Amino acid sequence: CSTVLFSRSCYVWFCFSLFDICICSYSVPAGESEDHASNRKQRSKLSLQMYLQCSRSFHGTLTFRHLHLLDQVYYGQAKCMLQRVGTWNFDIFLFDRLTNGESLVCLTLELFCKYGLIELFGLDPLRLHSFLVRIQEGYRSRNPYHNSLHAADVTQAMYCYLQEPKLSESLTSWDILLALLAAATHDLEHPGVNQNFLLKNDHFLASLYQNSVLENHHWKSALSHLRESGLLSHLPIEDRHRMEERLGSLILATDISRQNEFLSRFKAHLDRKDLNMSSPEHRQFILQMALKCADICNPCRPNSLSTCWSHCVTKEFFQQGDVERAHRHDVSPLCDRHSNSVAIIQKSFISYVVEPLFVQWARFCDTPLSHCMLGYMKQNKKYWSNAGQEDLMDNAQTTCCKVLPRGT
Ligand SMILES: *[C@@H]1O[C@H](CO)[C@@H](O)[C@H](O)[C@H]1NC(C)=O
Ligand SMILES: [Zn+2]
Repeated sequence: CSTVLFSRSCYVWFCFSLFDICICSYSVPAGESEDHASNRKQRSKLSLQMYLQCSRSFHGTLTFRHLHLLDQVYYGQAKCMLQRVGTWNFDIFLFDRLTNGESLVCLTLELFCKYGLIELFGLDPLRLHSFLVRIQEGYRSRNPYHNSLHAADVTQAMYCYLQEPKLSESLTSWDILLALLAAATHDLEHPGVNQNFLLKNDHFLASLYQNSVLENHHWKSALSHLRESGLLSHLPIEDRHRMEERLGSLILATDISRQNEFLSRFKAHLDRKDLNMSSPEHRQFILQMALKCADICNPCRPNSLSTCWSHCVTKEFFQQGDVERAHRHDVSPLCDRHSNSVAIIQKSFISYVVEPLFVQWARFCDTPLSHCMLGYMKQNKKYWSNAGQEDLMDNAQTTCCKVLPRGT
């Protein structure tokens, strides 16, 4: 992917030039040659940058371009991790730390390169890069769960599903481009509260859309970033419109209240054995199902990753509940910290939402990965059943939910 590497090194060059300007303005101590002094200053400034990047309390006080100053230090390890980007136990939390919270940009760029999408669609690498940065910043880092790390996780899961033979043998480049874009943008501009909350509070979003309020908002936000970045502006208008519609159909499918509709259609197809991956409509349907799986795959990950996600999502629910209580509204289901626990929420989520979906997905794929996911899901279900009523939140808050507020 030489084009992106080229733009990256331009970026690095640009940063170092700015950097030199700063260094040159420092006074040079007597008796030291200018070269020596600037080298020393540069080194100490770099170690300060490293300190700032490492320190959790400073996390996010630096802007994106500073990342490249640390290319050699951190990016090397992140790059190493990317060799295993297609494995199911990929630790996205670690990857996010190694990339200083830039996991969505780094991961999606890597996948675009892997598939050669830049060359295939004649994308401008700089536009792609700035589009991804916009997307990443379009996620609220204050949300304990619906932040850019969740988007990166869903994109990584989507990539694993795209590797499944049924999909990889039949998907077109358009399908792949679409699937990655949809995964990366599917929760864009998420307000950290659910649709019920928006309706109750007469939020302006609730007056914009009749149904699937959040999902419509994610889709429209994705479109505005897509258009503003000009990423696809060189493509024929019909192709762009088709792409935007398909993106909408994928993102809208993630509305969990439409789960039964999708699941019964999926079951019916599997019963009749009539899915035809040469048909564009059927491929779109399978991509919808893949994105739905990727979106709720947390309980199908290894326990150490899965429990982290459970704590993050519960934290977000309870925050909403606290706001509702403070405003003397009824506290929404699952959002009351006094009558729920991580374990209670996870047990019913797995039994009623995750399991029915992944059982059908395994029927469709019938691969080691799809069965492995069911195995992890059973382990996690057992784990939460044994966890009982004890409240694990306090413990969780110190070990999970790694994404701290970035500078706003
Ligand atoms: C599958 O779909 C393609 C494209 O729509 C069509 O040409 C083909 O006949 C279909 N195959 C079957 C077995 O229905
Ligand atoms: Zn999501």
